[in-house]
Amino acid sequence: MLHPDIQTDPERRAAGPALEEAMALALALPGLEVVAGEVVSLRQPQPGTLFGSGKMDELKALMQAQDIGLVLIDGPVTPVQQRNLEQAWKVKLLDRTGLILEIFADRAATREGVLQVELAALSYQRTRLVRAWTHLERQRGGLGFVGGPGETQIEADRRAIDEAVTRIRRQLSKVTKTRALHRAARAKVPFPVVALVGYTNAGKSTLFNRLTGAEVMAKDMLFATLDPTMRAIELNSGDKVILSDTVGFISNLPTELVAAFRATLEEVLEADLILHVRDIASDETENQARDVDSILDSLGVAETVPRLELWNKIDLLADEDADAVRNQAARREDVLVISAVSGAGLDDLQTVVTAHLEGVRSEETLTLPFSEGRARAWLFERGVVEQEEETEEGWTLSLRWTPRQKAEFSKL
Ligand code: GTP
Repeated sequence: MLHPDIQTDPERRAAGPALEEAMALALALPGLEVVAGEVVSLRQPQPGTLFGSGKMDELKALMQAQDIGLVLIDGPVTPVQQRNLEQAWKVKLLDRTGLILEIFADRAATREGVLQVELAALSYQRTRLVRAWTHLERQRGGLGFVGGPGETQIEADRRAIDEAVTRIRRQLSKVTKTRALHRAARAKVPFPVVALVGYTNAGKSTLFNRLTGAEVMAKDMLFATLDPTMRAIELNSGDKVILSDTVGFISNLPTELVAAFRATLEEVLEADLILHVRDIASDETENQARDVDSILDSLGVAETVPRLELWNKIDLLADEDADAVRNQAARREDVLVISAVSGAGLDDLQTVVTAHLEGVRSEETLTLPFSEGRARAWLFERGVVEQEEETEEGWTLSLRWTPRQKAEFSKL
């Protein structure tokens, strides 16, 4: 992972944290091992190769020594630079947008998310072709001939991409139209849904894995077909919930990816509770929280879904700072201090989640005629039945359920 630190860039960010964030981002791609990270200081990017020739040789030696096959560059790389660097270094190269696209493609869970990512990837490729083409034309400019094999190929590629874009747009509009059906399918999820959101590297996946545990998945064949970012867990109260992990928030999101990002977050809208995981040990924690909140608000999450903040990584703070953070948290009802690594605060978390879901649950008594066996089974499957009696009219059931469960039942 190389982070070009361009001194003349007016939007230059602190290089150390930026490199760290980019490395963490790369780790989000399964199967990728990030072996080295370096800040490369540049006065100005070289148009043809981004880096100067001395630096290129030095990096090449490093890559060969470590047997590196993929180089990630945390910033924009033009198609020409990409080709030249790939040739010089004998590696595959991805820039920031390329990397984020890969991550989105890996994480996109909904059909709409997948399509949005494909669309973004295509428009990214298309601009690359346009730029490569402009470049060729400029080289040929003085010769005065039009066409040529290069151009024809590029034109053909562009047409193929345009066709793919049209096809995907058509599919997307279909998906949007059938969103109601989509929701209905999701409503089959039997337990209340708790969604983890947060800035990239905040610790969502660590918490997710810690709370779910591998054995849960193995046992719970019922959910084997659910997407891998959703799992059923049993809280220490015995309550069952579905925990859902989402793609992390990222600053400097390339604009072509914003729609894709939102689509992957759609499931958050259907959660019963949102847990906003924050890296409380990061210097950037306040800015990150603001970013996350504003995106959630723009999705329209605010009014509909209750939200708790989990101040994670408390183990990384010195005692004094940790105490200050705990005091600050104690003054807020919607904040819990935790460590996904040490496990601190996780029992409390389960209790608070239980209480929260309890708060939204109501009690009700219902009588089902004996002909409604399926409806009865539905209720038992969801664990909302507290008591059952058989009477002449049928089954009389005492229920405790969330508004969402009740709404789903009424649709049956
Ligand atoms: P994205 O997938 O990019 O959205 O990140 P994420 O929010 O899922 O973060 P992840 O769980 O991958 O954690 C990022 C890094 O922080 C990993 O190196 C974790 O080991 C580390 N981490 C997570 N929680 C804690 C914690 O409580 N304490 C410490 N010390 N490290 C933590």
